Amino acid sequence: MNLAPSILSADFGNLRSEARQVESLAAYFHIDVMDGHFVPNLTIGPPVVNDLRRGLTRPFDIHLMIDRPLIYAPRFDVFPGDIITFHIEAEDDAAETIAAIRALGAKVGISLRPSTPIELLAEHLSMVDLVLVMSVEPGFGGQSFMPEAVGRIERLRAMIGDRPVTIEVDGGINVMNVRDVVQAGASLIVAGSAIFKQPDRLQAMRALIEAAK
Ligand code: DX5
Ligand code: ZN
Repeated sequence: MNLAPSILSADFGNLRSEARQVESLAAYFHIDVMDGHFVPNLTIGPPVVNDLRRGLTRPFDIHLMIDRPLIYAPRFDVFPGDIITFHIEAEDDAAETIAAIRALGAKVGISLRPSTPIELLAEHLSMVDLVLVMSVEPGFGGQSFMPEAVGRIERLRAMIGDRPVTIEVDGGINVMNVRDVVQAGASLIVAGSAIFKQPDRLQAMRALIEAAK
């Protein structure tokens, strides 16, 4: 499994140094972009995310929790290996958004709220690189893991079959539940508070990697 530390739980006043602390064990930096409309919280947007690049080497895993991904996705700089993920519940047409993100040169991810049926993804699975399964209601870090996510990941795994689609899981992941989601089929694991709210972040990441085995 690969870890994507969510900087939502880091100190926003020291983002670059916070990110550097975890870089050696991170496959990606998970960046939560919220618009205060699709979700009831506001975070950071393209100017901050694009400036954060300097001095960091890992690709960005940009999670757009916004209503109009077609307008805002092109404003993010794309570097090799980056993922841009949007929500199927967003206002813009999903097929059009997939094509637009692909045209930017990013890997394409599609995400869904815990209450959205995973069957709605079926028609898009041949067009995306990744599905991001939310295991909390999107909007805030530090919430409790919803155990239903495990069964949803298993069903999604079966729907994907042998297509090259990565399953990512996001929300409430900790050493108690990481093994369940990995065994169900997730291979990219987002963790915010389980990394950044711990006194030793790298130790916390090693503990997650160990607990997943
Ligand atoms: C929630 C965000 C998550 C969040 C995860 O809407 O999408 O990425 O930062 O934080 P934890 O791991 O603390 O639940
Ligand atoms: Zn996220």
